[in-house]
Amino acid sequence: MSVLGSNRQKEAIISASLLSADLCSLEREIKSALAAGCDWIHFDVMDGHFTKNISYGIPVLEACKKAVPEAFYDVHLMVDKPDCFAKLFSDAGADMITFHYEAMTNVYSTVNLIKSLGKKAGISVKPDTPASVLYPYFDSADMFLLMTVEPGFGGQAFDKRSPEKIKGLKSEITARGSKALIEVDGGINASTAPIVTDAGADVLVSGSYIFGAEDMKAAVDSLRVRR
Ligand code: DX5
Ligand code: ZN
Repeated sequence: MSVLGSNRQKEAIISASLLSADLCSLEREIKSALAAGCDWIHFDVMDGHFTKNISYGIPVLEACKKAVPEAFYDVHLMVDKPDCFAKLFSDAGADMITFHYEAMTNVYSTVNLIKSLGKKAGISVKPDTPASVLYPYFDSADMFLLMTVEPGFGGQAFDKRSPEKIKGLKSEITARGSKALIEVDGGINASTAPIVTDAGADVLVSGSYIFGAEDMKAAVDSLRVRR
């Protein structure tokens, strides 16, 4: 099968952001998201320094992992000094740990630390940070998370500059033979999913659209675009 052919068969991975779930019923919400066809559970951690908001952290992840151990926990650290917390999140049950390029950390050593814990490592950039800052990490990171909203809150509008940024990063990843995935996060719904998937996104994070839907399965199906 040609490369184009195999690409056409490929479906995006859907990662459900718990930020918009019913936080009093996380076990039920995680199980519902998996039953509706979500592949990963996206766990947004905000510290009130890196972001203007505070969410949840290590004990909550530990409780989720204990309640639903079969889920893949895609942890998004929107915190300063993520290297100080990587082991705690790893021990709590994270499968993938993504931190921000803009956080106060040594990017190489934080990627290596996460990988030494046996977890997948991702690096994220905010909408105003150029994707080119990620190029030195093509061989070391497992995933690049392009924020399509400003980190801090669910339910924001998709940044319309994002498709060009995704396309640029995808073409560099392909040209350099990197295996890193591109994840997009913020404002993903049935209208924006085909745009980011066409641009080259491999993983789509969606929160308010999935957890706010009357029919969660129909919502997840509407995000899953073949390319
Ligand atoms: C924003 C978070 C996102 C957010 C996505 O800081 O990283 O994961 O919850 O939410 P929606 O899909 O509602 O934009
Ligand atoms: Zn996120």
